[in-house]
Amino acid sequence: MTDRDSLYIYYISGTGNARISSQWIAEQAIKKGMRTVVQQIDRLENITMPRAGENTLIGFAFPTHGFNAAPIMLRFLAGFPAGLCRDVFLVNTRAGMKMSKIFLQGLSGLALILPAFILMLKGYRCIGFRPVDLPSNWIPLHPGLREKIIKSIFERCEPIVRNFADRILAGEKIYRGLYSLPVDILISPIAVAYYIGGRFFLSKTFIASNKCNNCGICVKECPTSSIIMVRDRPYWKLTCESCMRCLNNCPQRAIEATHGMATLFIIIITAINARIFLFMTALLNIHPDVWWWKILSDLIGIAVMVAISAGLYVFVHYAVGFKPLNYLVRFTSLTTLPFWRRYRYNKDKEKEKKNNNHVRTSAVVNPFR
Ligand SMILES: Cc1cc2nc3c(=O)[nH]c(=O)nc-3n(C[C@H](O)[C@H](O)[C@H](O)COP(=O)(O)O)c2cc1C
Repeated sequence: MTDRDSLYIYYISGTGNARISSQWIAEQAIKKGMRTVVQQIDRLENITMPRAGENTLIGFAFPTHGFNAAPIMLRFLAGFPAGLCRDVFLVNTRAGMKMSKIFLQGLSGLALILPAFILMLKGYRCIGFRPVDLPSNWIPLHPGLREKIIKSIFERCEPIVRNFADRILAGEKIYRGLYSLPVDILISPIAVAYYIGGRFFLSKTFIASNKCNNCGICVKECPTSSIIMVRDRPYWKLTCESCMRCLNNCPQRAIEATHGMATLFIIIITAINARIFLFMTALLNIHPDVWWWKILSDLIGIAVMVAISAGLYVFVHYAVGFKPLNYLVRFTSLTTLPFWRRYRYNKDKEKEKKNNNHVRTSAVVNPFR
């Protein structure tokens, strides 16, 4: 048993998985009599830090995005003050699935390694790494999982996270998240490509259909303030991290991922990139297989992709006001299909559980939403 007297958990969560994982850990800490502060880092606003010298343990919980930690968490960690305590731990939620009776795991990539490295540079010691395979929320890729499957994934994960919490709070070191290190390193180039380019493209694949009644919930709830109203219609800025909070929470189910439009964007971007590549190779008289040119041309390609998708998106945003184009965008989107379920952690169940639970989070700065 350690003699720590407080626990701080900082979390970011698109659809509730990292939030509920933080809550499970907090409940275990409260059972041990620890002062517990659970802090959501949305918009990096109103964040309370432990007092320097306080005998505390700090945890960070966040979803995996493109084989990396959610970018807002990386920014938070980059600005996190040094010297607040000695030990920290990391929990990254991933895309859990279930096929027949088999639970499938997500992939962390750099999601644990990079935050641990940033914290290490600040002098912290990571005593726990825990991936948690909660239901996947990547709705543009697949329909939300069925209720029964979601329930069984939660039933599997809750004891895992509580057990992790008990052991880490008792002073054990748990490096479970490092078992898959070879695979994580192997896929790290994809994580880098997603971080420097892919996520910007994805932010330009969301659109509000005519069902949008301009309620503004998506604007208010966006954890990175990336949605603004342009001509009474939500507009996604490049800072969007595709956390899926908007798409999964829209009461009108008006937010769609535009598969048809995204495919068209990719065709245009690929064609333009190929021409730029040929033109530059001829102009500079470089052999196309030279290693540095390969890297440089990839970086140019990513920059071109971001610029073109942002430009085309502005056009579509205005043009989608015309009914025929709106129908075209909607009918080439998979998320409009009636069976394409949305996903988010069931808040009603969470509330019900909280009401029946006598263990309350003490000193929660930002209540769970
Ligand atoms: C844009 C995006 C990228 C994702 N990338 C990964 C990934 O690389 N690996 C993985 O296991 N899960 C990935 N996921 C799934 C989420 O990390 C997972 O569903 C997580 O539990 C969501 O947590 P949250 O509800 O706290 O946001 C991704 C989800 C989204 C929306």
